[in-house]
Amino acid sequence: MHNQTLENPVRTMHVKTIEWLDDSNKVRLIEQTKLPQELEYIETDDYQVMCDAIRRLAVRGAPAIGCAGAYGVAIGALSVRDNDFGVFRAELGRIMDELRATRPTAVNLFWAINRMEKVLDQYHDVNLAIDALIQESKTIQEEDIAMCRKIGEHGASLLSDGMTVLTHCNAGSLATGGMGTALAPMYVAKEQGKNVKVFADETRPLLQGARLTSWELMANGVDVTLICDNMAAIVMRKGWVDAVIVGSDRIACNGDVANKIGTFTVAVLANRFGIPFYVAAPTSTVDPNVATGDDIPIEERASEEVAGFGSCRVGPESVKTYNPAFDVTPHDLVAAIITEQGIHKPPYDFSFLK
Ligand code: MRU
Repeated sequence: MHNQTLENPVRTMHVKTIEWLDDSNKVRLIEQTKLPQELEYIETDDYQVMCDAIRRLAVRGAPAIGCAGAYGVAIGALSVRDNDFGVFRAELGRIMDELRATRPTAVNLFWAINRMEKVLDQYHDVNLAIDALIQESKTIQEEDIAMCRKIGEHGASLLSDGMTVLTHCNAGSLATGGMGTALAPMYVAKEQGKNVKVFADETRPLLQGARLTSWELMANGVDVTLICDNMAAIVMRKGWVDAVIVGSDRIACNGDVANKIGTFTVAVLANRFGIPFYVAAPTSTVDPNVATGDDIPIEERASEEVAGFGSCRVGPESVKTYNPAFDVTPHDLVAAIITEQGIHKPPYDFSFLK
């Protein structure tokens, strides 16, 4: 573990949420549960540490989870190196299933692991397979970096100087291998000299907006105002929001969008106030096997997250809770879906990605 105290956020563009270390064949990732108080890194060659990091949200955000899953397969392959390819293949298959079981909603996790499995199945030699798997995991992150930039460029074309964007959860550089999805348009707009401001919803229960989005926007010099989730209506009512941009964990073929719990509420409000509601995500977030949002599995998390606030218990002991981590925004509330391919407008039909 490496610690860095963050009295002053580092003014560096786009922290590296996750990366492969060639020297040691390890993965280095930011321990996001400690932000913004501490910038701490986990360095590991243990796939179980990676599984745990995904479950605990030490690494989170759909594209970043995809990269973590791919790197998890690579370090898993190194750890089960066996002279017998059959033994190696069977053990790595079990590891891939363990990685797949960490979180159910972000399709990028399954997309990345399936892609690694396809590479594995081209080999019958353990050492050649390991080299190819390491290379593929790095390629997945390189592609993610390029996709984020493209999303940023397409998204920035929707933003003009002086606009204010509201976002929910964290879909920035902390949530991807690159510069982010929903925050990428603001970063590119800033590069283009446009003055774009952001309202960040705090995003209960785990406060990704308060802890992560506001931290990374400040670190990158973007004007951000943090609000509680229940304040979105008043800032919209006052005419202070020109557009909403959020990320996604899984998009159905018909354009229904799963994202962090509370996104649907924001979309309904945006509709009420006539504010365009945009979704920014790579095409790896589209699930071509899912026709509508009804078929997207929604993760339910521990009761303590709702009954507590940070490390402080606030609800009565043994109070009943309900804690879905995501909701689905129906496609009719989505003005456009920004991918690396461009700006998709309704009616949505992503079945061409099959
Ligand atoms: O539970 P999390 O923090 O992994 O949820 C993340 C989100 O909902 C993001 O908006 C989504 O993954 C898009 S990240 C580019």
